[in-house]
Amino acid sequence: MKLTVVGGGSTYTPELIDGFARLRDTLPVEELVLVDPATERLELVGGLARRILARQDHPARVVTTADLDAGVADADAVLLQLRVGGQAARNEDETWPLECGCVGQETTGAGGLAKALRTVPVVLDIAERVRRANPDAWIIDFTNPVGIVTRALLKAGHRAVGLCNVAIGFQRRFAGLLGVDPSEVHLDHVGLNHLTWETGVRLGGPEGEDVLPKLLAEHGGPLAETLHLPRAVLDRLGVVPSYYLRYYYAHDEVVRELRTKPSRAAEVAQMERELLRMYADPALDEKPELLARRGGAYYSEAAVDLAAGLLGGGGSTYQVVNTYNNGTLPFLPDDAVVEVQAAVGPQGASPLPVRPVDPLYAGLIANVTAYEDLALDAALRGGRERVFRALLAHPLIGQFEYAETLTDRLIAHNREHLAWA
Ligand code: G6P
Ligand code: MN
Repeated sequence: MKLTVVGGGSTYTPELIDGFARLRDTLPVEELVLVDPATERLELVGGLARRILARQDHPARVVTTADLDAGVADADAVLLQLRVGGQAARNEDETWPLECGCVGQETTGAGGLAKALRTVPVVLDIAERVRRANPDAWIIDFTNPVGIVTRALLKAGHRAVGLCNVAIGFQRRFAGLLGVDPSEVHLDHVGLNHLTWETGVRLGGPEGEDVLPKLLAEHGGPLAETLHLPRAVLDRLGVVPSYYLRYYYAHDEVVRELRTKPSRAAEVAQMERELLRMYADPALDEKPELLARRGGAYYSEAAVDLAAGLLGGGGSTYQVVNTYNNGTLPFLPDDAVVEVQAAVGPQGASPLPVRPVDPLYAGLIANVTAYEDLALDAALRGGRERVFRALLAHPLIGQFEYAETLTDRLIAHNREHLAWA
């Protein structure tokens, strides 16, 4: 089995390699290709990847290359984890929206739209080249904003599934609190990427007993604390929102907070410099502790499970992924991309039925879906007016004047990445 990672020079890659090494029975990788235009960084990451595998006597060969077409040739699956413009562009996404009193975040609000506009054309070009090399290859997209990028890929007819680690993070956390194996915990996970709620926590499978009320009663405090939300939010709603819902439920508080501290991009850039220094040490042959301070916890496990499911090598049957709605949430168009439990196999991902969604969440999901539709239109066709329409439709923006100002700022800050601007 050959896997290719586009954006393989990411400091995240050792997390992925660590998963491949630990979970070799689930996913027997023989060749791993890391593709990245940043060759210096790629060599550091590639070197560590080889040492991590060697330490665990894993037989996979690691190839590093800047040549995308060579890298994806004959790959069974291609993982996309790239970041157009790097942390510098992310830093902008997190900064200029704050000037209008709107949240500055790389996947939510105006910053998320900027990232979508930069990313969609690049990902579509890569996907086209993957398809040319091997029409049967699966594309696993971890590139944000995952909902919009996955929708772009599916709309262009690619064999793609979108992946995020939020659900697996909750699954692991709940399993720990309940004292059971993570495979015993089935989440009723509903919404869009980075806009999800855990509305049930079932033991043993989709029809198992729902222990969410018990979890909230016994562990609501610490759960709320990690989400940086007041405990009352969890108690009153009776569900567990993902930490991305904080940008909605506590928007103004987050804006105040963000204005007083360095951006996450700046923090991450600092961490990355340190990580790369560590990766250069030939004695290092495991993923360093510091990597755990990044947001991607359990990403490797989710990716291994998903690849194993798609490539028919075992793995868990049900996984939370991003794929076409196709009637799963009856209040959304079929071609919306939702993040829900799905049965994953060689034919792809097909969503499991979802219990009726409370209007409290359905309304916001529908609103953000409409925004994503307009965002994708802006990413595919460009133009100031399309950017403006997407911003006006976003529930965190909504006001005419803000949408106008943010449109100008978005374009000014991203000109070098937008072919039409
Ligand atoms: C979580 C999200 C990812 C996001 C990451 C950011 O893992 O699910 O989509 O990319 O956090 O983490 P970072 O360490 O870059 O802030
Ligand atoms: Mn994510």
